[in-house]
Amino acid sequence: MARILLSPPHLSGRELDRLREAVESNWIAPLGPQVDAFEKELAEFVDVPNALALASGSAALHLALIVLGVGAGDEVACASFTFSSSANAIVYTGARPVFVDSDETWTIDPELLERALDEHPGIRALLAVDLYGQCCDYDALAAVCEPRGIPILQDAAESLGSAYRGAPAGGQGALGAFSFNGNKVITTSGGGMLVSRNADWIAHARKLSTQAREPVPHYEHTEIGFNYRLSNLLAAVGRAQLEVLPERVATRQEINERYRELLAAAPGISFMPDAEYGRGNCWLTCIVVDPEEAGTDRERIRLALEAEDIESRPLWKPMHLQPVFRGAPMVGGDVSGGLFERGLCLPSGSALTESDQERVVEILLSSRTGTKSSQSA
Ligand SMILES: Cc1ncc(COP(=O)(O)O)c(C=O)c1O
Repeated sequence: MARILLSPPHLSGRELDRLREAVESNWIAPLGPQVDAFEKELAEFVDVPNALALASGSAALHLALIVLGVGAGDEVACASFTFSSSANAIVYTGARPVFVDSDETWTIDPELLERALDEHPGIRALLAVDLYGQCCDYDALAAVCEPRGIPILQDAAESLGSAYRGAPAGGQGALGAFSFNGNKVITTSGGGMLVSRNADWIAHARKLSTQAREPVPHYEHTEIGFNYRLSNLLAAVGRAQLEVLPERVATRQEINERYRELLAAAPGISFMPDAEYGRGNCWLTCIVVDPEEAGTDRERIRLALEAEDIESRPLWKPMHLQPVFRGAPMVGGDVSGGLFERGLCLPSGSALTESDQERVVEILLSSRTGTKSSQSA
């Protein structure tokens, strides 16, 4: 039986046609018609006028902070409950992250953010992270940030295809960053996109992404640049993937629904709450296991699944608990710490079959004490 992965790539079947177009046109470069078209199509999808295709979501976050003017000596408020890439981008600029805990939506807590801004006057920007497809509450964050002139960078790496108050995710901040890493809702194998309503910021990021070359015939540089652009070949894959994005999101939402139904009667197992202000893409379905009630715990479930060649993964280990960020300021309690202790991401890829999903649930339930399989184990 093939291993069940957490969130593997799911091809649309149109990738080869697009790749053939790219190869036959001889645009085997980090620019070209596929890149231009991918930027245009993604911009339309997320309803933000300017988009820049990049080598990764991490590159998009890094350039976004630079064009916002963040640099050495600054501080940037950042969700603690995230993947390290969000916080790393802050460090790349020479700035320092100030971590903020989550609220009941698992995304950054606007009240704690306000406290962070009061306690750290050196904060120049907010890096807000949409988590497992669920958007932050951007109205609440803007109410805290706008009066202080703090721009919001939306890390939408996990939320392509989600909605915030009816609008596509990615356009809620001053800039938004997407990822097309291999485990995301759609993939280019590796890639990212930076979007903004501010055309000047995207133009500046575009220049920085190609080694900050000045518009003269020879190579002239007035600032430090990067080699961050997306290949025309990968953009071709991205276009083929974008065509099926709505279907892929709908499937992940159905998978999430089915997990909820199949586990509804299981005591001690709860799901990531759905915030009332939006609709998540259900990139990964996440559960929280209460060991007292469930008769099992996060790690037992993970190991039981692994023994059957099924991949699952603990929720993000918060940044304030990461050795590499030891000593960084952290505002708030231990919501994210508790989620890390008890939370698990279940296989959620859009190609997951119903029978595979039932198998996942069956093994999960069998890890409880007193059940047949745990007694025989
Ligand atoms: C929240 C978050 N931010 C940033 C990234 C970085 O994106 P990439 O892997 O494309 O660099 C990811 C995922 O990989 C992510 O999940």
